[in-house]
This record gives sequence, structure tokens and C-alpha cells, in this order.
Amino acid sequence: MSENLLPLPGDLVAFITEWKPKPGNLVMVLHRVQETYGYIPHEVVVEVSRLLEMPLAKIYGVVTFYHFFSLKKPGKHKIAVCMGTACYLKGGQALLDEIASILQCHAGEVSEDGKFSVDSVRCIGCCGLAPVLTIDGKVYGDLTPAKIAGLIAPFQNES
Ligand code: FES
Repeated sequence: MSENLLPLPGDLVAFITEWKPKPGNLVMVLHRVQETYGYIPHEVVVEVSRLLEMPLAKIYGVVTFYHFFSLKKPGKHKIAVCMGTACYLKGGQALLDEIASILQCHAGEVSEDGKFSVDSVRCIGCCGLAPVLTIDGKVYGDLTPAKIAGLIAPFQNES
């Protein structure tokens, strides 16, 4: 069958096939695609379009409408700087600025070498440690801009 020629994993093809006749299929499929790849690659959108028999423009309309979906490949490590009220008041923006100056990468971007994604996020529930950021989900608190270089160096230096 032609499905065997797809670059998609078999379980993703099966998922798309199962959801094809159901209402809300596109959003469900896009969630699954993002779960599989970490973002929504163009080549996969083309295959989803073919399998769901849906125009590319409609799929991209949905992908770009929802903030949750990303068309950009994420960095290997995800840095999320909290910009909730407590962290903002204690210097969250200065942390973000320091990261931008070290990595040449602002919130919402991926560093040139693909090692880091940088984002600003809302309160992550550790306000007592403000200002905080997470790297790959691990929380680092009581930060100052001076601590940022040392914090991210091990990730920069890994091969
Ligand atoms: S405001 Fe940053 S953890 Fe709550």
C-alpha cells in the first residue's frame, strides 16, 4: 500500500487514518504530530494533507491560529524564563536579556547552533524562588544575570 512509502512512523499513519472520519480530526492529528516531532515539520503537513484529503492552506491556517503549535524545530535544550509577576518584579527581564546577549537568541527563538530554545513563560508556581527559569523542565531559582553564564555553560559545552 502507498502508506508504506510515507516517511511517517506507522503508528502516526494509523492514528491519522483512525481520526480521518471523526470531527476535530485535524487538531487531534496536529497534536500527535507535534508530540512525535516536537514541532510541525512541513513535509509532515504535506503527508497529513494527503492522508486527510485536506488542503495545505487549511492545515496551516489551524497551525498558525493556535499558539500551542510550532512550525520551528525546537532547540536541543529548552530554556523557559518565568515572567510571572513575582519573577518579573525580581528581574526576570534582566535574565532574559542576559540569555539573549550570551546566546544571541531572544524569547521565542532557537539559537543559531540549534542547542537552545528560549521562551518566556507565565508563573510556574515557584514564586518563593523568584526570579526563576527552567532548563529542560528543571527549575533554577534565586537567579541574577551574573549566574546565567555559569548555568548554561555545561549545556553549551556538551558535544
Ligand atoms: S512568578 Fe515566577 S514562579 Fe511565580
